[in-house]
Amino acid sequence: MTRTPIHSRCTIEVHLDADDLARALRQDALDGLTAAAKHLPPKWFYDERGSELFDQITRLEEYYPTRCETEILRREAEAIAERTRATTLLELGSGTSTKTKLLLDALAVAGTLQRIVPFDVCEPVLRAAGPELAKRYPRARVDAVVGDFDRHLGRLPMEGTTLVAFLGGTIGNFGPAGRVKLLGELADQLAPGDWLLLGTDLVKAPERLVRAYDDAAGVTAEFNRNVLHVLNRELDGNLIPERFAHVARWDADEQWIEMHLRSEERQTARLEALDLDLTFGEGELLHTEISAKFTRHRIEGELAAAGLELDRLLTDAAGDFALSLARKP
Ligand code: AVJ
Repeated sequence: MTRTPIHSRCTIEVHLDADDLARALRQDALDGLTAAAKHLPPKWFYDERGSELFDQITRLEEYYPTRCETEILRREAEAIAERTRATTLLELGSGTSTKTKLLLDALAVAGTLQRIVPFDVCEPVLRAAGPELAKRYPRARVDAVVGDFDRHLGRLPMEGTTLVAFLGGTIGNFGPAGRVKLLGELADQLAPGDWLLLGTDLVKAPERLVRAYDDAAGVTAEFNRNVLHVLNRELDGNLIPERFAHVARWDADEQWIEMHLRSEERQTARLEALDLDLTFGEGELLHTEISAKFTRHRIEGELAAAGLELDRLLTDAAGDFALSLARKP
């Protein structure tokens, strides 16, 4: 795979192009919409509109995770930089790296930062964000990687002491088996002495959890329905998003929030590009996301299962969200 220069100190490496993404969406739509219990992976929420809606979600009063994680990073970035003395900061699902700048600033001040590796599925976002990072951190190189972190983790460009940041609680989009696989693959890429900084939302009162995923203004409902707009556009479909209600519920056994779209009536739709006719019964659910919530015990256990040692578990003052700093021994 070749690294293409896009700035004097920034390269980009593309493991995933528009064709790969289109193929993956077709496969996921075909598998998920023909299954007995219909489902779609949450990654398809994030087209331009979906990313904008998620951005709005992070500013909602009900949605605390982003604010909590920022609070922890503001307070602890310097300590994390001192503890890890990382030379490379690799961020999974980096987007525009807003929160990560707190870490990068601290590593730059500590004088250890040499290289930034933003890793994201979205090539246009990285083409813009990569050179921006290079300008902001004049002593660092930026090697952006376009990839899917459930498929391309085996190809991370590693060197020096690496700190991998996987923030926001995105790991919660995976079930227990997916997390074992993801953390295991990630840990396999790390050298002894490398670090992982993992953001996880914590278990709390179900009312607060549900409100965070079913806000009064209906932004999360729009975000959820956005996946239907994506199907319509990408697969030449005629789904009518307004005929689906947003459902968010807490599964106390699994310890995760589930999001669904509920068909409000019996209806049919067609995805022309897949030559696929769909029927939704009245009340039928299309499962679109899980967002797992954690306890300290569970985080420590899952890190250990991947071969990582929890070094420090940091929370916001209210104890709503955790950032775990773990080390590969
Ligand atoms: C981006 C996966 C961390 O699970 O809280 C927000 C996505 N879904 N509201 C989360 C999301 C509905 C978010 N993550």
